[in-house]
Amino acid sequence: MTFSHDIVIVGAGGAGLMAALYAREGGADVAVVSKLHPLRSHTGAAQGGIGAALGNEEEDHWLWHAFDTVKGSDYIGDQDAIEIMCQDAPRTIVELEHYGVPFSRNKQGKISQRRFGGHTRNFGEAPVRRACHAADRTGHTILHTLYDQCVKNHVRFYDEFQVLDLLMTPDGETCGVVAYEILTGEIHTFHAKIVCFATGGYGRAFKTTSNAHAGTGDGMAIVLRKGLPLEDMEFVQFHPTGLYRLGILITEGARGEGGILRNNEGERFMERYAPTVKDLAPRDLVSQCIYKEIREGRGINGKEYVHLDMTHVGEDVLLHKLPEITVFSRTYMGIDPVKQPIPVAPTCHYAMGGIPTDHDGRVERAQRGSTVPGLYAVGECACVSVHGANRLGTNSLVDLVVFGRRAGIRMAQEIQDRRNEPKPLLPDDPQKPTRDLLDAILSRTEGEPVVAVRTDLQQTMMDNVSVFRNEETLTQALADLKALRERARRVVVRDKGKRFNTELMDAVEIGFMVDYAEAIAAGAKYRTESRGAHSREDYPQRDDEHWLKHTLFYSDGQGGYEFGDKKVIITRFQPKERKY
Ligand code: FUM
Repeated sequence: MTFSHDIVIVGAGGAGLMAALYAREGGADVAVVSKLHPLRSHTGAAQGGIGAALGNEEEDHWLWHAFDTVKGSDYIGDQDAIEIMCQDAPRTIVELEHYGVPFSRNKQGKISQRRFGGHTRNFGEAPVRRACHAADRTGHTILHTLYDQCVKNHVRFYDEFQVLDLLMTPDGETCGVVAYEILTGEIHTFHAKIVCFATGGYGRAFKTTSNAHAGTGDGMAIVLRKGLPLEDMEFVQFHPTGLYRLGILITEGARGEGGILRNNEGERFMERYAPTVKDLAPRDLVSQCIYKEIREGRGINGKEYVHLDMTHVGEDVLLHKLPEITVFSRTYMGIDPVKQPIPVAPTCHYAMGGIPTDHDGRVERAQRGSTVPGLYAVGECACVSVHGANRLGTNSLVDLVVFGRRAGIRMAQEIQDRRNEPKPLLPDDPQKPTRDLLDAILSRTEGEPVVAVRTDLQQTMMDNVSVFRNEETLTQALADLKALRERARRVVVRDKGKRFNTELMDAVEIGFMVDYAEAIAAGAKYRTESRGAHSREDYPQRDDEHWLKHTLFYSDGQGGYEFGDKKVIITRFQPKERKY
């Protein structure tokens, strides 16, 4: 079938829903196409809070938030975008509350705020309470509320339709997408003036991750395959506290409420590395310190984890402010955090890089201003860039509501401006490349199962491209990925049916994963310095002279690639050494 809408948004997490809501309020006909039911989107897993300088608990200022974000980004986040985000954050919280988000309350009845890593008062003086939260289910409540609002406003949803291709005219104008309907196995064309990717991150490319199974980075790969770039892919965030071995998130809000990281000697080791903020240092630093402790033999019982000690925090705080992680610890580890420390280790959590956009979500093909007609991206799959080399906790939710809204408003305006134009023409037989791809997989009778290839990809990314990297590990990863590209082309699926053939979708996704994993590994090899979450053992210093710039990765889809550079925008805060 061919469906026709003004705007097609791909992905139904917080960014996609916010963009949909605002585009709809602006009068556009909006469809959201998602491989999951919207309420299963990964925004629902965001736990600890959304940052905004409301000052409900103590004095705060949006400029302090902006400074912390710039410093957290290791000075490579674009400061004009960061200013927009931090200045707009308080208004956004009030708006979310009016939409119906049930934020937790403090004793004065105001929205409760707690401490989070890297968020400080007065430009780094001491930790500040800035994270607005709904217990430790903040993303869950935002996702449900935005979905309610979208349904109320007649956004059209296509649930469990997996987008596999982006359609463009020969002149490079966006004209739609092709999607696979998971229930029926049918392929559909969506004809639109505007397409907006909101497909989230790629944590599933790593063995240990906090990300849902759906976090396979599809949108990034689809855009890359159209000859468009990905920006700053070398910056991959490892959250310091995932449940040992499982990677399931234990919110930074736990440390915000007083939790302490301890090594095998019972030492509060973060005091040595970050004397001012201690356990509330930013994520890049805490993850690196945990690995240093483990490497130096101070992991718990010689193993690859440390303890997150909440035993002094009290049952009341755990049950009321951190119920989710209390239940997770009990269910998955058999640990009662009221009485026992939680075993934790870094877990792949967030993509700082992604599809380059301007402040209104418009995708750029090279330098600033080189927008691709009709193409937008928002949320984790996009790179505005407000997170630079290391995102501060709580800033992903702010990013998606602030820039999701801006993109929604801009898209509605664009539809108004183009109301007398017909939609750009679809290519002849727009579904052919997708059909050919799926037929080739389904007709193959010999080859490896997807899981074998995916497991090896996740292992090489974890071993060679995680918290610490060097020339040797990155060369190894790229060699492995070259072989994995060939293996991914020959996978075989046992399920040849049409209904709910998730194995077939896995087979497509593994091709996507190889494409952007290469962007991550190649970007990490290219950037010969250490900055934020990109820690090169062979280049341990930050090198502003050569690397105070964004990288743009372009691929030929066959393992050949090249890089471009993009200037970092600096407005108020000159780069200096990061000390916490
Ligand atoms: O630790 C957390 O609750 C995660 C929040 C985030 O990634 O922003």
